[in-house]
Amino acid sequence: MILVTGGAGFIGANFVLDWLAGSNEPVVNLDKLTYAGNLNNLSSLQGDARHIFVQGDIGDSALLAQLLAQYQPRAVVNFAAESHVDRSIHGPEDFIQTNMVGTFRLLEAVRHYWQALPTDSKAAFRFLHVSTDEVYGTLSKDAPPFTEEHTYEPNSPYSASKAASDHLVRAWHHTYGLPVLTTNCSNNYGPYHFPEKLIPLMIVNALAGKNLPVYGDGMQVRDWLYVKDHCSAIRRVLEAGQLGQTYNVGGWNEKPNIEIVNTVCALLDELRPRADGQSYASQITYVQDRPGHDRRYAIDARKIERELGWKPAETFDTGIRKTVAWYLDNADWVANVQTGAYRDWVSKQYTSQDAV
Ligand code: NAD
Ligand code: DAU
Repeated sequence: MILVTGGAGFIGANFVLDWLAGSNEPVVNLDKLTYAGNLNNLSSLQGDARHIFVQGDIGDSALLAQLLAQYQPRAVVNFAAESHVDRSIHGPEDFIQTNMVGTFRLLEAVRHYWQALPTDSKAAFRFLHVSTDEVYGTLSKDAPPFTEEHTYEPNSPYSASKAASDHLVRAWHHTYGLPVLTTNCSNNYGPYHFPEKLIPLMIVNALAGKNLPVYGDGMQVRDWLYVKDHCSAIRRVLEAGQLGQTYNVGGWNEKPNIEIVNTVCALLDELRPRADGQSYASQITYVQDRPGHDRRYAIDARKIERELGWKPAETFDTGIRKTVAWYLDNADWVANVQTGAYRDWVSKQYTSQDAV
């Protein structure tokens, strides 16, 4: 049994689905179901006894203690977070509460549980914290990619809150000996990505005939990784990572935003051409830049490749084609998110601690 937090969100849901596709080890999935949590992501697991869904907050110490005692997980994988940089700029409070206070409460609950485990279970236990490359700050054009030794220089409320959570995880290892692992990953993309983020927003807006808002000059660089590859990296770190170590995860796919948007438009032109024969690229609109916008992220993923033998399975070309095709094939999922019906579905279908 493993306990996953935030498993109804984009990466967490992909992780739970992939985990149960490859193993019969059950998953307890603790998720608060904020706007980003969507049980439709997990609808294929409806009635599957290996998936136990619990609606709740990682900041709820009593609930955490109860779940840990009841399910006795051998590992905890912490995805739960507020994840969107723009939202953190407009309203940082939730980021502080979940990413910092929530991670602290989770660490404390897990520490008490772990300290009381029998010797063998205690030695085998793992706490894996899922973090981001944004904690390292921004890179100049020609600087080498971030290694695990790069200083922490977070620039947004989101990245500062994630950096703080990474420091708490590190401290719980050094001070209490909690067996922790941390992954710092670059930008993910793929199925179930909430359409506030760049790639799904561009797909959804393009199909709706809306503007495609590109911040500033569109020359900010991100390093893109297909979400299933992030999930395989997390499984590998959980299996073989060295305690107390951090692992950068990335796809060696640095691209300026405008190139990403043009690629999405070109794929849509091919797979779902506009009725008027024009390219979706004609909908691109340059808008005001994000305040404090980091110019470039790039991940040096050699440590996880060298020490744990992990490599991504997808190139950017294969991954982005699959992603655009997924959004075209899953118009219902998109419509449920856009209309808010995915929230109604939650309140109609779900009572506390039901398995879904
Ligand atoms: P997401 O916003 O899609 O999902 C977050 C999930 O956490 C949601 O299901 C939400 O309901 C849940 N949640 C939020 N607050 C909670 C709380 N207090 N208690 C319990 N559950 C709560 O995020 P994502 O993109 O899937 O990111 C998952 C993790 O991976 C985050 O920690 C994020 O920082 C990290 N990360 C994301 C990316 C990326 O590109 N998306 C890259 C690197 C790291
Ligand atoms: O680097 C990892 C991080 O990637 C994760 O830790 C975050 O959780 C995740 O949200 C993501 O952060 P970004 O800010 O990089 O992702 P976002 O999709 O919001 O933006 C990607 C780039 O595109 C960024 O440079 C801002 C730009 N952008 C974004 C949106 C939503 C636009 O130009 N227009 C847009 O409408």
